[in-house]
Amino acid sequence: MLDDLATPPDNPRVSWLYKAFARPLFFKRDPEEAHDLVLRRLGWASRQRWALGLARCSLSGPKLPVELFGLTFPNPIGLAAGMDKGGTALPAWAALGLGFSELGGVTRHAQPGNPQPRIFRVIEDGALINRMGFNNPGAEAMAGRLRDWHDSGLWPTHPVGINLGKSKITPLADAPADYRYSFELLKNFADFFVVNVSSPNTPNLRQLQDKSALAEILAALQEANDGQRPILVKVAPDLGFGALDEILELVEPHRLAGLVATNTTIERPYENGLYAETGGLSGRPLTRRSTEVIRHLYRQSAGRVPLIGVGGIFDADDAWEKITAGASLLQIYSGMVYEGPQITRAILKGLAKRLAREGFTELHEAVGKEQ
Ligand SMILES: Cc1cc2nc3c(=O)[nH]c(=O)nc-3n(C[C@H](O)[C@H](O)[C@H](O)COP(=O)(O)O)c2cc1C
Repeated sequence: MLDDLATPPDNPRVSWLYKAFARPLFFKRDPEEAHDLVLRRLGWASRQRWALGLARCSLSGPKLPVELFGLTFPNPIGLAAGMDKGGTALPAWAALGLGFSELGGVTRHAQPGNPQPRIFRVIEDGALINRMGFNNPGAEAMAGRLRDWHDSGLWPTHPVGINLGKSKITPLADAPADYRYSFELLKNFADFFVVNVSSPNTPNLRQLQDKSALAEILAALQEANDGQRPILVKVAPDLGFGALDEILELVEPHRLAGLVATNTTIERPYENGLYAETGGLSGRPLTRRSTEVIRHLYRQSAGRVPLIGVGGIFDADDAWEKITAGASLLQIYSGMVYEGPQITRAILKGLAKRLAREGFTELHEAVGKEQ
Protein backbone atom coordinates (compact mmCIF):
# COMPACT_ATOMS: atom_id res chain seq x y z
CA MET A 1 0.00 0.00 0.00
CA LEU A 2 2.74 2.44 0.92
CA ASP A 3 5.31 2.21 -1.80
CA ASP A 4 7.30 5.44 -1.64
CA LEU A 5 8.06 5.19 2.02
CA ALA A 6 11.78 5.62 2.07
CA THR A 7 11.99 8.91 0.14
CA PRO A 8 14.53 11.01 2.06
CA PRO A 9 13.50 14.45 3.26
CA ASP A 10 14.55 17.17 0.81
CA ASN A 11 13.16 20.62 1.43
CA PRO A 12 15.38 23.47 0.28
CA ARG A 13 13.13 26.05 1.92
CA VAL A 14 13.66 24.77 5.40
CA SER A 15 14.91 27.32 7.89
CA TRP A 16 18.62 27.08 8.31
CA LEU A 17 18.43 28.34 11.88
CA TYR A 18 16.03 25.65 13.06
CA LYS A 19 17.90 22.85 11.35
CA ALA A 20 21.34 24.09 12.37
CA PHE A 21 20.67 24.87 16.03
CA ALA A 22 17.30 24.08 17.59
CA ARG A 23 16.55 20.75 15.95
CA PRO A 24 19.86 19.06 16.85
CA LEU A 25 19.29 20.07 20.49
CA PHE A 26 15.73 18.72 20.49
CA PHE A 27 16.71 15.57 18.68
CA LYS A 28 19.36 14.79 21.32
CA ARG A 29 16.52 14.35 23.77
CA ASP A 30 13.95 11.62 24.01
CA PRO A 31 11.10 12.62 21.62
CA GLU A 32 8.45 12.89 24.32
CA GLU A 33 10.76 14.84 26.62
CA ALA A 34 11.52 17.26 23.76
CA HIS A 35 7.80 17.58 22.99
CA ASP A 36 6.94 18.31 26.62
CA LEU A 37 9.73 20.88 26.87
CA VAL A 38 8.52 22.73 23.77
CA LEU A 39 4.94 22.63 24.99
CA ARG A 40 5.92 24.01 28.41
CA ARG A 41 7.78 26.88 26.73
CA LEU A 42 4.89 27.59 24.39
CA GLY A 43 2.53 27.44 27.36
CA TRP A 44 4.63 30.08 29.09
CA ALA A 45 4.87 32.22 25.95
CA SER A 46 1.08 31.91 25.56
CA ARG A 47 0.67 34.05 28.68
CA GLN A 48 3.04 36.82 27.51
CA ARG A 49 1.35 39.20 25.12
CA TRP A 50 4.74 40.52 23.96
CA ALA A 51 5.91 36.99 23.10
CA LEU A 52 2.73 36.28 21.17
CA GLY A 53 3.14 39.56 19.31
CA LEU A 54 6.76 38.83 18.49
CA ALA A 55 5.92 35.37 17.16
CA ARG A 56 3.08 36.80 15.10
CA CYS A 57 5.37 39.38 13.52
CA SER A 58 8.12 36.95 12.64
CA LEU A 59 6.12 33.85 11.68
CA SER A 60 2.83 34.95 10.07
CA GLY A 61 2.52 34.20 6.39
CA PRO A 62 0.32 35.63 3.65
CA LYS A 63 -3.40 35.56 4.35
CA LEU A 64 -5.24 32.86 2.44
CA PRO A 65 -8.69 32.89 4.02
CA VAL A 66 -11.02 29.90 3.80
CA GLU A 67 -14.74 29.94 4.64
CA LEU A 68 -15.95 26.54 5.75
CA PHE A 69 -18.56 25.09 8.16
CA GLY A 70 -19.75 28.67 8.72
CA LEU A 71 -16.30 29.56 10.12
CA THR A 72 -13.60 31.86 8.79
CA PHE A 73 -10.10 30.39 8.73
CA PRO A 74 -7.37 33.04 8.20
CA ASN A 75 -5.37 30.43 6.30
CA PRO A 76 -5.77 26.72 5.52
CA ILE A 77 -2.85 25.33 7.59
CA GLY A 78 -3.92 24.01 10.99
CA LEU A 79 -2.36 22.22 13.92
CA ALA A 80 -3.14 18.50 13.82
CA ALA A 81 -4.56 16.69 16.85
CA GLY A 82 -2.12 15.20 19.33
CA MET A 83 0.37 18.07 19.52
CA ASP A 84 -1.52 19.93 22.26
CA LYS A 85 -3.69 17.30 23.88
CA GLY A 86 -4.68 19.43 26.87
CA GLY A 87 -4.87 22.94 25.39
CA THR A 88 -1.69 23.98 27.24
CA ALA A 89 -0.46 26.40 24.59
CA LEU A 90 -3.66 27.39 22.82
CA PRO A 91 -2.84 31.08 22.15
CA ALA A 92 0.60 30.17 20.79
CA TRP A 93 -0.70 28.23 17.77
CA ALA A 94 -2.37 31.26 16.22
CA ALA A 95 0.71 33.36 17.02
CA LEU A 96 2.85 30.83 15.12
CA GLY A 97 0.78 31.66 12.06
CA LEU A 98 -1.50 28.62 12.00
CA GLY A 99 -4.98 29.11 10.57
CA PHE A 100 -6.71 26.87 13.14
CA SER A 101 -5.85 24.40 15.86
CA GLU A 102 -7.29 21.04 16.81
CA LEU A 103 -6.74 20.30 20.50
CA GLY A 104 -6.88 16.83 22.06
CA GLY A 105 -7.48 13.92 21.66
CA VAL A 106 -9.36 14.23 24.84
CA THR A 107 -11.36 11.48 26.52
CA ARG A 108 -14.12 11.43 29.10
CA HIS A 109 -11.75 10.01 31.74
CA ALA A 110 -8.27 11.40 32.38
CA GLN A 111 -5.74 8.74 31.44
CA PRO A 112 -1.96 8.29 31.48
CA GLY A 113 -1.65 6.58 28.09
CA ASN A 114 0.76 3.76 27.30
CA PRO A 115 4.08 3.17 29.07
CA GLN A 116 7.08 5.18 27.81
CA PRO A 117 8.95 5.22 25.50
CA ARG A 118 6.03 5.74 23.12
CA ILE A 119 7.26 8.15 20.42
CA PHE A 120 10.09 7.30 18.04
CA ARG A 121 11.76 9.37 15.31
CA VAL A 122 12.82 7.74 12.07
CA ILE A 123 14.93 10.75 11.18
CA GLU A 124 16.27 9.55 7.85
CA ASP A 125 12.69 9.15 6.55
CA GLY A 126 11.14 12.25 8.17
CA ALA A 127 8.78 9.99 10.12
CA LEU A 128 7.40 9.51 13.63
CA ILE A 129 5.95 6.41 15.20
CA ASN A 130 3.75 6.91 18.24
CA ARG A 131 1.76 4.74 20.55
CA MET A 132 0.74 7.43 23.05
CA GLY A 133 -2.64 5.85 23.77
CA PHE A 134 -4.62 9.07 24.37
CA ASN A 135 -2.67 10.39 27.35
CA ASN A 136 -4.75 13.42 28.32
CA PRO A 137 -6.10 15.30 31.33
CA GLY A 138 -9.73 14.30 30.65
CA ALA A 139 -12.67 16.33 29.36
CA GLU A 140 -13.41 18.06 32.66
CA ALA A 141 -9.87 19.36 33.18
CA MET A 142 -9.75 20.39 29.53
CA ALA A 143 -12.98 22.38 29.94
CA GLY A 144 -11.45 24.12 32.97
CA ARG A 145 -8.31 25.03 31.05
CA LEU A 146 -10.27 26.33 28.08
CA ARG A 147 -12.46 28.39 30.39
CA ASP A 148 -9.29 29.95 31.82
CA TRP A 149 -8.06 30.84 28.33
CA HIS A 150 -11.43 32.48 27.61
CA ASP A 151 -11.35 34.44 30.84
CA SER A 152 -7.76 35.56 30.29
CA GLY A 153 -8.67 37.35 27.07
CA LEU A 154 -5.96 35.39 25.28
CA TRP A 155 -8.31 33.15 23.29
CA PRO A 156 -6.95 32.95 19.74
CA THR A 157 -8.61 34.67 16.83
CA HIS A 158 -8.56 31.52 14.69
CA PRO A 159 -11.06 28.62 14.86
CA VAL A 160 -10.41 26.00 17.53
CA GLY A 161 -11.43 22.37 17.21
CA ILE A 162 -11.41 19.53 19.72
CA ASN A 163 -10.51 15.94 18.90
CA LEU A 164 -12.65 13.51 20.89
CA GLY A 165 -11.39 10.01 21.71
CA LYS A 166 -12.81 7.07 23.64
CA SER A 167 -11.56 6.38 27.17
CA LYS A 168 -9.57 3.16 27.38
CA ILE A 169 -11.67 1.81 30.27
CA THR A 170 -14.94 2.31 28.39
CA PRO A 171 -16.13 -0.82 26.56
CA LEU A 172 -16.80 -0.37 22.84
CA ALA A 173 -20.53 -0.84 23.41
CA ASP A 174 -20.60 2.23 25.67
CA ALA A 175 -18.60 4.39 23.28
CA PRO A 176 -21.55 6.65 22.26
CA ALA A 177 -22.12 7.76 25.87
CA ASP A 178 -18.39 8.23 26.43
CA TYR A 179 -17.99 10.54 23.41
CA ARG A 180 -21.21 12.35 24.26
CA TYR A 181 -20.11 13.05 27.82
CA SER A 182 -16.92 14.77 26.62
CA PHE A 183 -18.80 16.62 23.90
CA GLU A 184 -21.38 18.02 26.31
CA LEU A 185 -18.69 19.27 28.66
CA LEU A 186 -16.70 20.86 25.87
CA LYS A 187 -19.22 21.99 23.28
CA ASN A 188 -19.16 25.61 24.38
CA PHE A 189 -15.38 25.78 24.22
CA ALA A 190 -14.68 25.00 20.59
CA ASP A 191 -15.78 25.93 17.09
CA PHE A 192 -15.81 22.39 15.73
CA PHE A 193 -15.35 18.79 16.87
CA VAL A 194 -13.58 15.80 15.37
CA VAL A 195 -14.65 12.29 16.30
CA ASN A 196 -11.52 10.22 16.43
CA VAL A 197 -12.26 6.57 15.75
CA SER A 198 -9.02 6.04 13.84
CA SER A 199 -6.19 6.07 16.37
CA PRO A 200 -4.34 2.74 16.26
CA ASN A 201 -3.27 3.06 19.91
CA THR A 202 -6.46 2.39 21.86
CA PRO A 203 -7.34 -1.30 21.68
CA ASN A 204 -10.12 -1.97 19.13
CA LEU A 205 -10.90 1.74 18.66
CA ARG A 206 -10.74 1.40 14.89
CA GLN A 207 -13.67 -1.04 15.02
CA LEU A 208 -15.75 2.06 15.70
CA GLN A 209 -15.16 3.09 12.07
CA ASP A 210 -17.58 0.31 11.23
CA LYS A 211 -20.70 1.95 9.78
CA SER A 212 -23.26 0.92 12.40
CA ALA A 213 -20.96 1.58 15.39
CA LEU A 214 -20.03 5.00 14.04
CA ALA A 215 -23.67 5.81 13.29
CA GLU A 216 -24.56 5.25 16.96
CA ILE A 217 -21.80 7.59 18.14
CA LEU A 218 -22.82 10.29 15.67
CA ALA A 219 -26.49 9.99 16.61
CA ALA A 220 -25.59 10.43 20.30
CA LEU A 221 -23.46 13.48 19.53
CA GLN A 222 -25.97 15.16 17.24
CA GLU A 223 -28.70 14.66 19.84
CA ALA A 224 -26.58 16.67 22.26
CA ASN A 225 -25.56 19.16 19.58
CA ASP A 226 -28.81 20.69 18.29
CA GLY A 227 -26.96 21.32 15.05
CA GLN A 228 -24.86 23.96 16.79
CA ARG A 229 -21.30 22.77 16.22
CA PRO A 230 -19.77 21.31 13.08
CA ILE A 231 -18.86 17.65 13.74
CA LEU A 232 -16.32 15.81 11.58
CA VAL A 233 -14.97 12.25 11.61
CA LYS A 234 -11.27 11.42 11.32
CA VAL A 235 -10.49 8.33 9.27
CA ALA A 236 -7.54 5.93 9.16
CA PRO A 237 -5.37 5.67 6.06
CA ASP A 238 -5.57 1.90 6.37
CA LEU A 239 -9.27 1.70 5.49
CA GLY A 240 -10.05 0.28 2.08
CA PHE A 241 -12.09 2.38 -0.37
CA GLY A 242 -15.20 0.31 0.39
CA ALA A 243 -15.03 1.14 4.10
CA LEU A 244 -14.42 4.82 3.28
CA ASP A 245 -17.53 4.80 1.07
CA GLU A 246 -19.56 3.45 3.99
CA ILE A 247 -18.39 6.34 6.14
CA LEU A 248 -19.37 8.75 3.36
CA GLU A 249 -22.87 7.28 3.51
CA LEU A 250 -23.14 8.56 7.10
CA VAL A 251 -22.40 12.17 6.19
CA GLU A 252 -25.88 13.27 5.16
CA PRO A 253 -28.07 11.38 7.64
CA HIS A 254 -25.83 12.42 10.53
CA ARG A 255 -25.25 15.97 9.31
CA LEU A 256 -21.48 15.60 9.35
CA ALA A 257 -19.66 18.82 8.46
CA GLY A 258 -16.81 16.89 6.85
CA LEU A 259 -14.05 14.32 7.23
CA VAL A 260 -10.45 14.55 8.38
CA ALA A 261 -8.13 12.37 6.30
CA THR A 262 -6.01 10.85 7.70
CA ASN A 263 -4.77 9.61 11.03
CA THR A 264 -1.49 7.65 11.34
CA THR A 265 -0.96 4.32 9.58
CA ILE A 266 -0.14 0.89 10.96
CA GLU A 267 1.54 0.03 7.64
CA ARG A 268 5.35 0.03 7.48
CA PRO A 269 7.83 0.58 4.65
CA TYR A 270 10.17 -1.97 6.22
CA GLU A 271 9.92 -4.38 9.11
CA ASN A 272 13.33 -3.68 10.61
CA GLY A 273 14.85 -1.10 12.99
CA LEU A 274 12.48 1.43 14.51
CA TYR A 275 9.76 0.35 12.08
CA ALA A 276 9.37 -2.73 14.25
CA GLU A 277 7.94 -0.48 17.00
CA THR A 278 4.19 -0.79 17.46
CA GLY A 279 2.13 2.35 16.86
CA GLY A 280 0.93 4.79 14.24
CA LEU A 281 3.36 6.01 11.59
CA SER A 282 3.19 9.66 10.46
CA GLY A 283 5.30 12.03 8.39
CA ARG A 284 6.73 11.57 4.91
CA PRO A 285 5.95 7.89 4.60
CA LEU A 286 2.27 8.79 4.96
CA THR A 287 2.15 11.57 2.37
CA ARG A 288 1.08 9.56 -0.63
CA ARG A 289 -1.46 7.30 1.06
CA SER A 290 -3.26 10.11 2.85
CA THR A 291 -3.50 12.00 -0.46
CA GLU A 292 -4.97 8.88 -2.11
CA VAL A 293 -7.61 8.72 0.61
CA ILE A 294 -8.44 12.42 0.13
CA ARG A 295 -8.67 11.97 -3.65
CA HIS A 296 -10.97 8.98 -3.26
CA LEU A 297 -13.26 10.73 -0.76
CA TYR A 298 -13.45 13.84 -2.94
CA ARG A 299 -14.27 11.91 -6.12
CA GLN A 300 -16.70 9.57 -4.45
CA SER A 301 -18.63 12.44 -2.87
CA ALA A 302 -18.39 14.57 -6.04
CA GLY A 303 -16.69 17.24 -3.94
CA ARG A 304 -19.73 17.70 -1.71
CA VAL A 305 -18.06 16.66 1.57
CA PRO A 306 -15.51 19.13 2.96
CA LEU A 307 -12.19 17.46 3.69
CA ILE A 308 -9.35 18.37 6.04
CA GLY A 309 -6.19 16.81 4.62
CA VAL A 310 -3.45 15.65 6.98
CA GLY A 311 -0.53 13.27 6.61
CA GLY A 312 3.07 14.00 5.65
CA ILE A 313 2.75 17.66 4.65
CA PHE A 314 6.26 19.15 4.75
CA ASP A 315 6.19 21.85 2.08
CA ALA A 316 4.01 23.79 -0.35
CA ASP A 317 4.13 21.04 -2.98
CA ASP A 318 2.72 18.51 -0.49
CA ALA A 319 0.05 21.03 0.48
CA TRP A 320 -0.84 21.77 -3.14
CA GLU A 321 -1.19 18.08 -3.94
CA LYS A 322 -3.63 17.58 -1.10
CA ILE A 323 -5.65 20.69 -1.99
CA THR A 324 -5.91 19.76 -5.65
CA ALA A 325 -6.79 16.20 -4.63
CA GLY A 326 -9.76 17.63 -2.71
CA ALA A 327 -8.76 19.02 0.70
CA SER A 328 -10.21 22.41 1.66
CA LEU A 329 -8.08 22.71 4.81
CA LEU A 330 -4.83 21.05 5.89
CA GLN A 331 -3.13 20.08 9.13
CA ILE A 332 0.45 19.41 10.14
CA TYR A 333 2.17 17.56 12.96
CA SER A 334 5.33 15.69 11.87
CA GLY A 335 6.25 18.46 9.42
CA MET A 336 6.39 20.90 12.33
CA VAL A 337 8.74 18.59 14.24
CA TYR A 338 11.13 18.17 11.31
CA GLU A 339 10.91 21.57 9.63
CA GLY A 340 10.33 23.86 12.61
CA PRO A 341 7.81 26.57 13.42
CA GLN A 342 8.39 28.51 10.20
CA ILE A 343 6.89 25.66 8.18
CA THR A 344 3.46 27.35 8.11
CA ARG A 345 4.76 30.55 6.60
CA ALA A 346 6.90 28.65 4.07
CA ILE A 347 3.88 26.61 2.96
CA LEU A 348 1.60 29.65 2.77
CA LYS A 349 4.11 31.61 0.69
CA GLY A 350 4.47 28.67 -1.67
CA LEU A 351 0.70 28.24 -1.93
CA ALA A 352 0.16 31.93 -2.65
CA LYS A 353 2.71 31.75 -5.49
CA ARG A 354 1.17 28.58 -6.85
CA LEU A 355 -2.33 30.06 -6.83
CA ALA A 356 -1.12 33.09 -8.77
CA ARG A 357 0.74 30.89 -11.26
CA GLU A 358 -2.34 28.76 -11.91
CA GLY A 359 -4.54 31.85 -12.33
CA PHE A 360 -6.65 31.36 -9.18
CA THR A 361 -7.49 34.21 -6.85
CA GLU A 362 -8.87 32.19 -3.93
CA LEU A 363 -7.85 28.88 -2.47
CA HIS A 364 -11.22 27.19 -2.82
CA GLU A 365 -10.92 27.48 -6.61
CA ALA A 366 -8.00 25.02 -6.48
CA VAL A 367 -9.75 22.41 -4.32
CA GLY A 368 -10.08 19.13 -6.23
CA LYS A 369 -8.75 20.71 -9.44
CA GLU A 370 -6.41 17.86 -10.35
CA GLN A 371 -9.47 15.67 -11.02
C1 LIG B 1 2.62 11.91 18.91
C2 LIG B 1 1.35 11.98 18.11
C3 LIG B 1 0.13 12.01 18.78
C4 LIG B 1 -1.07 12.05 18.06
N1 LIG B 1 -2.25 12.10 18.75
C5 LIG B 1 -3.42 12.17 18.04
C6 LIG B 1 -4.67 12.27 18.71
O1 LIG B 1 -4.75 12.33 19.93
N2 LIG B 1 -5.81 12.28 17.96
C7 LIG B 1 -5.76 12.22 16.58
O2 LIG B 1 -6.81 12.23 15.92
N3 LIG B 1 -4.58 12.17 15.92
C8 LIG B 1 -3.43 12.14 16.61
N4 LIG B 1 -2.24 12.08 15.93
C9 LIG B 1 -2.25 12.05 14.45
C10 LIG B 1 -2.05 13.42 13.82
O3 LIG B 1 -3.09 14.30 14.18
C11 LIG B 1 -1.98 13.30 12.28
O4 LIG B 1 -3.21 12.79 11.81
C12 LIG B 1 -0.88 12.36 11.83
O5 LIG B 1 0.29 12.53 12.61
C13 LIG B 1 -0.51 12.59 10.35
O6 LIG B 1 -0.03 13.90 10.15
P1 LIG B 1 1.53 14.25 10.03
O7 LIG B 1 2.11 13.31 9.04
O8 LIG B 1 1.58 15.69 9.64
O9 LIG B 1 2.12 14.00 11.38
C14 LIG B 1 -1.03 12.06 16.64
C15 LIG B 1 0.20 12.04 15.97
C16 LIG B 1 1.39 12.02 16.69
C17 LIG B 1 2.70 11.99 15.94
